Amino acid sequence: MNDTVAACRFCGSALETDFVDLGSMPLANNFITRDKLDKPEPHYPLHVKLCTKCLLVQHNAIVSPENIFTDYPYFSSYSAAWCEQARRYALTAKQRLGLGPASRVVEIGSNDGYLLRHFVELGIPVLGIDPARNVAEVARAAGVPTETRFFGAAAARDLVARGCAADLVVANNVLAHVPDINDAIAGLKLVLKPGGVFTAEFPHLLRLIREVQFDTIYHEHFFYYSIMVLERILSRHGLRIFNVEELPSHGGSLRIFACHQEDPTHAEEPGLSRVRAAEEEAGMDRIEAYAGFAARVKEARSALLAFLDEATRRMAKRVVGFGAAAKGSTLLNVCGVDGSQVDYVVDETPAKRGKYLPGSHLPIVGIEAVRRTRPDYILILAWNHKDEIMRKLAYVREWGGRFVVPLPRATVLG
Ligand code: TMP
Ligand code: ZN
Repeated sequence: MNDTVAACRFCGSALETDFVDLGSMPLANNFITRDKLDKPEPHYPLHVKLCTKCLLVQHNAIVSPENIFTDYPYFSSYSAAWCEQARRYALTAKQRLGLGPASRVVEIGSNDGYLLRHFVELGIPVLGIDPARNVAEVARAAGVPTETRFFGAAAARDLVARGCAADLVVANNVLAHVPDINDAIAGLKLVLKPGGVFTAEFPHLLRLIREVQFDTIYHEHFFYYSIMVLERILSRHGLRIFNVEELPSHGGSLRIFACHQEDPTHAEEPGLSRVRAAEEEAGMDRIEAYAGFAARVKEARSALLAFLDEATRRMAKRVVGFGAAAKGSTLLNVCGVDGSQVDYVVDETPAKRGKYLPGSHLPIVGIEAVRRTRPDYILILAWNHKDEIMRKLAYVREWGGRFVVPLPRATVLG
């Protein structure tokens, strides 16, 4: 059960250097129902390594993707900002790539169809691929054709044979999620028509390191990418990046644009050299840039525990969490926070309500609990939605309630 890989999942070199070891953790999205509270909970090592040969940061646990993704509690459409970003993306892609009724857009990890539905509205044929049955059903109900399967070279060959090669392939927040990265990128290369464009979004490792976002490290995320490493991976499979955009999502993401290596139509754009330069300036081409991270995680953890101790034990204040996202699970578990420090966690996702967070077993409740219980502090676990959450809960100020962000260092806001 607790097996680990010894070699880099991309280049095969021995994984000997630590990035950070977060100990033994339950799966971050494995919310617990009441009847399972007293049952044993599977834990897996969450030990993140740096491959010193290719500089790919990756955890070494063997966790079956079927365990994580078959029933997935994450519905992209619940975030307003996310949906707006998707709508704008579809419009721009249509214009820039000249997509029309004879084109096809394939999305890997298409979730509930939050993105493809906009292409459908624009009259462009689409196909979604997602292994999670529950989200794929929602997508199909919304008119987005979706196949429930894992993506890789075999799936790509099958799609091409059925005439489903793509003019645009989208892979948002999935490059981190596929343990066999070589098979997935080989699949992308196969399914992309000559002259086609591939775009992908993923959280930027530079931001993770700078802002100590250790809570975004969990088993679902096998890989943590810099642009320099991703360029190396794509290039091995005959693809090249020609542009990069920086996005605010998930604490700082990159959106790459890539094409077949031999495609002459896309000249390198300034966005790419900008991000390359930022990484070089941060020294990410050298092993030393990765060395201090574990110590900074320790400091962040101590600061959060000191705040919680001071607030709850010495001042008898009540603290609640907001946002039962995977990063919230991870933060609470890595810091060893439990019900003696945080009363409950608010989340508006209907499927999460009434369940308990993995590991910490904090109860997940609806937003109305806040008015009823008048907590002193709201710990913003979903800090990537900080502004939206603070606007929504502005009324806690009526009773002197205040907001706290946990990272890069626990801070009580204004
Ligand atoms: P995410 O960071 O992965 O998008 O997850 C954010 C979590 O926070 C998700 O479970 C939904 C929840 N949430 C609310 O319940 N209400 C809100 O207003 C926002 C912004 C998030
Ligand atoms: Zn490697």
